[in-house]
Amino acid sequence: MNNAQDSKAGLRIFPSLMCFDWTRVGATLREVEKAGADGIHCDIMDGSFVPNFTLGTDIVRTVRKHTDLPIDCHLMCWRPEQHIESFRKAGADIISIHAEATVHLQRVLDAIRKIGASPAVAFNPHTPLDCLRYVADDVDMVMLMMVNPGFAGQKLIPAALPRISECAEILRGAGRGDVAIQVDGSVSFEKAPEMVGLGASVLVAGTSSVLAPDMTPRKGILKLRKLCGG
Ligand code: DX5
Ligand code: ZN
Repeated sequence: MNNAQDSKAGLRIFPSLMCFDWTRVGATLREVEKAGADGIHCDIMDGSFVPNFTLGTDIVRTVRKHTDLPIDCHLMCWRPEQHIESFRKAGADIISIHAEATVHLQRVLDAIRKIGASPAVAFNPHTPLDCLRYVADDVDMVMLMMVNPGFAGQKLIPAALPRISECAEILRGAGRGDVAIQVDGSVSFEKAPEMVGLGASVLVAGTSSVLAPDMTPRKGILKLRKLCGG
C-alpha cells in the first residue's frame, strides 16, 4: 500500500493545481485541504508532448512546503525518464508518465518506484490500453485522460468513458484489481458518478467541478463525494 493506492478504501479527490486562482494559491491549498482533498494534482506540460506549458519543479517544491497532502505529478512531456528525479526531489509522491511518451515504459515505471515515488501510467484518449497488461505489476495507478491533455475546461470525449471499464477488466485479468484508476479532464459533477460507476476511484477535480468559478472547494468536494457515493 502506498500513495497511489487506496489507503482509505473509497473515492479520492485530487484538485488540480493548474486550475487554482493564481492570485491566491496558498489560500486555495488550505481550503482544499480543509475540505478533505486527498491529494494535489500537478500538470507538468512541456509545450511539445502537449501544446501548452504549465507547471515545473519550482512550483512543486513550493507546494511541497505548504501541504502534507500527497503531490501527484502528471508529466505531460516526452522522455519522462529525464525528469522523474527532479520532480521526486521537488516533492512528488506520485509520478504519472504517459505510455506514449517513452520507449521503455516498464523501465521508467520501475525507476519511479526505485526513487521512492508511486508509479502511474497515463493514457491519452485514443491510445490502446493493451500495453497495460505488461506493466500492470509496475504501477499503483492508471490514469485515463477524458480529454486530449493540454488545457483545462475542455469537453469530455465520449469515447473515453468506456475505456474506464476496459481498463478495470485488464487490471483484474492481470490480477491487479487493487490498482487505482484515475480520471483526468472534464471530470464534471454530471459525469463523475458515471466514471466512478465504471471503475474510477481517483478524480482529478478542475474547472468542471471543485474549481469551477461559481464553486468553493468546500462545497465542490462535498458535492462530488455526495454525487459519487464516496
Ligand atoms: C489536462 C488537465 C486538465 C485539468 C482538469 O491535461 O489535467 O484536465 O487538470 O480540469 P478540467 O476540469 O477543467 O478539465
Ligand atoms: Zn493532469
